[in-house]
Amino acid sequence: MIVLGVETSCDETAAAVVTDAREIRANRVLSQLAEHAPYGGVVPEIAARSHLDHIDRLVREALDEAQTPLDALDGIAVTGGPGLIGGVIVGVVTTKTLAQVTGKPLINVNHLEAHALTCRLTDAVEFPYLLLLVTGGHSQLVAVEGVGRYRVMGTTIDDAAGEAFDKTAKMMGLAYPGGPALERCARDGNAARFDLPRPLAGRAGSDFSFSGLKTAVAQLVAKISGADGKLAPEDAADVAASFQAALADAVCDRTRNALETFASVYPRARTLVVSGGVAANGHLRTRLGVLAEQYDFDLKAPPLALCSDNAAMVAWAGVERLRLGLTDGLDFRPRPRWPLGEVRGGA
Ligand code: KG4
Ligand code: ZN
Repeated sequence: MIVLGVETSCDETAAAVVTDAREIRANRVLSQLAEHAPYGGVVPEIAARSHLDHIDRLVREALDEAQTPLDALDGIAVTGGPGLIGGVIVGVVTTKTLAQVTGKPLINVNHLEAHALTCRLTDAVEFPYLLLLVTGGHSQLVAVEGVGRYRVMGTTIDDAAGEAFDKTAKMMGLAYPGGPALERCARDGNAARFDLPRPLAGRAGSDFSFSGLKTAVAQLVAKISGADGKLAPEDAADVAASFQAALADAVCDRTRNALETFASVYPRARTLVVSGGVAANGHLRTRLGVLAEQYDFDLKAPPLALCSDNAAMVAWAGVERLRLGLTDGLDFRPRPRWPLGEVRGGA
C-alpha cells in the first residue's frame, strides 16, 4: 500500500510518500520560517500564499524521489484540519483535484491524529499507548486506543507548551522561533536561580496551564532588565534555564497523573510517547525519560524531523485509515478547529 501525504496547515509546505511497510520513500518539507521571522510569528495570509506557490512542485518532487507515479498510489492523504484555514484549503483543494483526476481514494486526516500515530511509523508502537503531544498550537495528553480512538485526558486551558516557549523567548528578546533559541540560551544557565511557578502542579487531573508561568517571567524580565530594556547574557541564560525547568516540572506533573490513570485502565500498556515540536527539547525529554522509568514505561520519541510538522506523518495516518477502509468523499470541508476527541475511525 502506497500513500501520498500533503501537509499545509501551518508554516511547513510538505509532501511525502509512505508505504504500509513503514517505508518513507520521500519526505519533502519546505519551511516558511524565513518568510515569517520578520514578523515574530506565523502570518496566516503569507502562509497560505506560500503554500499555493510551492505545493505543486513539492508533490511532484516527492513522487519523483519515491519513484512512484501517481497511478501507483493506493490513496492520497491530506491534513483537513485543524490549522490556519487558508493553508488547509490549499492542501485540500490540491489533493481533491489529484483524487478526482486519478480516481484514487482521498483520506481526510486530522493533523493531531497524524502526530499521534507517527510513533507507529517510526517505532511500530502497539495500541494502546499514552501520548503527550506538545506543539506550538496544542498541549494534550491522549490515550491512543486505536485508529480514530483517542481519549483526551488533558488539554491546555490557556497557552500551548510551544506557545509558552515562543512568547517567553520573545519577551527575552530571543530570535523566532522561540523554543530552540530559548533552549540554546538556557544551556549554560542556572535553573535554580529563579523560583518560577509550576502551574497546576500537585492538583488532580492532567490539564495544562502555562499563562501564569509566562506572566511570572514577564515580571522577572521587567525587574532585572537593564536601562536599555535588555537582559545581560548571564541573566538571560538563568531566566531561560529557570523557565525551562519550571515548564518541564509542570508538564511532568500533569503527565504523571495521566500515566497513573492510564496504567490503571491498561495494566499491560508500557509505552509513553512524546511528540510535537516541543519534544525536541532535550531537558524535557530527559525529565520525561526519568518519569517513564519510574512507572516502568518506555519513552518513545519520533526522530526530530518527524516530531515537528511534516507530510510523512499525514501519509502514514492515511495508510492506517486506508487499511481500515476509512476513506472520504470529495465533499468534506477543511476545518480550522477539529478536536482530536471528535475524530472517528476503527472499531
Ligand atoms: O509541532 P510543531 O513543529 O508545529 C506545530 O505547532 O504544529 O511545533 C512547533 C513548536 C514551536 O512553538 C517551537 O518553538 C517549539 O515547537 N520547539 C521547541 C523546540 N523546538 C521547537 N520548544 C522547546 N525546545 C525546543 N528545542
Ligand atoms: Zn503539528
